[in-house]
Amino acid sequence: MKLGKLTLGIITAATLLVINCSASKTVSEESLGLRTTNIYSEDTTTSDKTQYGSKPAGESTKIKRAFENAPPMIPHDVEGMLPITIDNNQCTMCHDPAVAQSMGATPIPKTHFTSFRPQTELTKDGVMLQNGKHLDNTIDIKTVEKPLDSLSGARFNCSQCHAPQSEGTKAPKNNFSSEFRSEGLNGKSNLIDTINEGVK
Ligand code: HEC
Ligand code: HEC
Repeated sequence: MKLGKLTLGIITAATLLVINCSASKTVSEESLGLRTTNIYSEDTTTSDKTQYGSKPAGESTKIKRAFENAPPMIPHDVEGMLPITIDNNQCTMCHDPAVAQSMGATPIPKTHFTSFRPQTELTKDGVMLQNGKHLDNTIDIKTVEKPLDSLSGARFNCSQCHAPQSEGTKAPKNNFSSEFRSEGLNGKSNLIDTINEGVK
């Protein structure tokens, strides 16, 4: 009986200690989100306006790559260029490798003129064929790299991967710092040379 009371006493004391400790570590509501605002009066909180760079192509400053072979952000104004449609893709008018240099624009890289899709077909009865041969498992499909004469259809919609960057003052602090394995990769890509890294 005595032991029971003692145990109860210890448990109570331990619980109080825990409650006390956690009470001293309060989290204010203002610090709960990135908005640093009181969540009960956040209807007055306004977010940053989206403000893409207004410098025209040719006068903007390129943005350093976020990581190795990241799709570069669009540094210049894209007013009137988006959305990209089948009849109107202005991006290629300056970034096509045939003209890019004369426009001072980065040429569209080789990866965008390459098909990475395996040549497969599906028969009427649902059998998958690769080069006429039956495939048991899609895992048998090796990475293919087939150079194309023109831009790959998978790369036509530039803004699917390349985005303009909005300038804001309210962005939370970001401690990310990128590391590149070789010189200059923060300003250019070399994916076509490293695409099979870790696979072959
Ligand atoms: C009038 C020519 C022109 C057009 C049209 C154009 N660009 Fe550019 N682009 C440039 C130039 C020139 C640069 C280099 C930065 C500068 O001088 O402003 C550039 C830079 C870029 C970069 C950064 C490249 C790097 O190496 O960091 C990307 C990404 C880009 N453009 C994508 C696009 C996309 C996507 C479109 C279509 C929505 C587009 N551009 C339309 C001329 C153009
Ligand atoms: C499916 C995503 C995707 C699409 C769509 C796409 N890109 Fe890219 N782009 C990338 C990635 C990822 C890279 C970096 C790796 C590489 O070179 O492939 C890149 C790199 C680039 C570069 C930098 C090349 C260098 O040498 O540093 C330019 C310029 C570029 N793309 C322009 C375009 C334009 C213009 C279009 C539309 C015609 C386009 N891209 C469509 C993903 C894409």
